[in-house]
Amino acid sequence: MSDPIDDLLDAAESGKSIIKNRDILHFTYIPEKIQHRKTEQEQVTQALLPILKQHRPSNLLVYGEPGTGKTLVIRTVLRKIQKRVEKSNFPIKLVYTNSKDETAIYGLLVSLGRQIDLNEAELPGNGLAISEVFNRLLKKIDNEKLNVIFVIDEIDYLAKLVQKTGKDILYQLTRANERLKQGSLSLVGVSNDLTFKENLDPRVISSLGEEEIVFRNYNVEQIKKILEERINDAFLENSVEIGAINRCAALAGGEHGDARRALDLILKAGEIAERQQSDKVTDQHVSEASQKMEEQLVKSTLEAFPLHKKLVILAIMRSKGSSTGEIYSSYKNLCKLVGRDELTNRRVKQMLSEIDVSGIITGKIISQGSHGSTKKFTLEIATETIKNAFKDDLTLQDIV
Ligand SMILES: Nc1ncnc2c1ncn2[C@@H]1O[C@H](COP(=O)(O)OP(=O)(O)OP(=O)(O)O)[C@@H](O)[C@H]1O
Ligand SMILES: [Mg+2]
Repeated sequence: MSDPIDDLLDAAESGKSIIKNRDILHFTYIPEKIQHRKTEQEQVTQALLPILKQHRPSNLLVYGEPGTGKTLVIRTVLRKIQKRVEKSNFPIKLVYTNSKDETAIYGLLVSLGRQIDLNEAELPGNGLAISEVFNRLLKKIDNEKLNVIFVIDEIDYLAKLVQKTGKDILYQLTRANERLKQGSLSLVGVSNDLTFKENLDPRVISSLGEEEIVFRNYNVEQIKKILEERINDAFLENSVEIGAINRCAALAGGEHGDARRALDLILKAGEIAERQQSDKVTDQHVSEASQKMEEQLVKSTLEAFPLHKKLVILAIMRSKGSSTGEIYSSYKNLCKLVGRDELTNRRVKQMLSEIDVSGIITGKIISQGSHGSTKKFTLEIATETIKNAFKDDLTLQDIV
């Protein structure tokens, strides 16, 4: 009898692998050539150029939709400047942090500190007041006459942290240069949330946005070129059908031209093709990959819902195509079953609108003639997906 584990291992050993190097498709990989971003590369380089003459570059804000090459371009420019600086011995420090990786402002500042060579004794990983961390950073820059460019990628995460803790750290950062007698500090903020400025203190906007660069969206054709280039390095020759590339580009380029999504899609499609022992990636594999990724996204959205939102979803599931009133009574029953106090009707209505926005349910106003009208909600996703997403929630295990 065949053994399922051995079968798979055999197939993997002898079987077709069409992905030559998957790291090349990972979003952290830096490709040799950056296509379609000539203007943006020039703009970023121009903005940071003064550092080579030991002048202070202006603070800079970089904007653009997700997957438009912001991180790629910035990291490449930094790397090239760094290379030149190393040869010359200038006291220049280029520091990159991603505020998504940091859960606290303290961590972000320590990450900055470590990259300008402040050790644990000079800047402990915890325990100081933020203002003191800040002083130590500035002292180091001042004492060693450092010229520092501090890049904060995905700065919108930091902006949200700041909002929660009420510290005006962003303001301090953008104005830090004014406190230095020697050396300099410039800030580069990168964001894909075009509305994030609305939540910032106007003083921060004016100093952070001394200069602004906007990354335009890629079109389908450009996404296709980026894909082809990367496929050449990552896949075996002729193992990706042109139809697959076209579908990938169409799916990822349709909205705002997200290169990351295109690369994720082709990798996933490649994995599906390999698993099916196919020696080519077809458009069918890409569609399958897209569907899988979509499901995964819905699943993680559902998993992240707070308990009562999950209960509301289950209430809709139990009473298919139902009115707000019916959903509310079904919800109340579920609350009893799991032993939780119910929220008000008003709050549940509010939740229904929120879930509606995420596309998981749709609400329709149904006229009831002389009785006025009511809103009915239907699920837009399979009940299997919901069960799958909730099955690990201990409170819900019995009802799911
Ligand atoms: N012009 C390009 N040429 C080659 N590869 C590109 C290009 N633009 C983007 N990519 C690739 O697409 C992926 C996403 O790019 P990047 O991470 O720079 O996007 P981003 O604008 O920083 O997105 P986000 O706002 O979501 O962080 C990366 O794998 C990157 O290498
Ligand atoms: Mg990025």
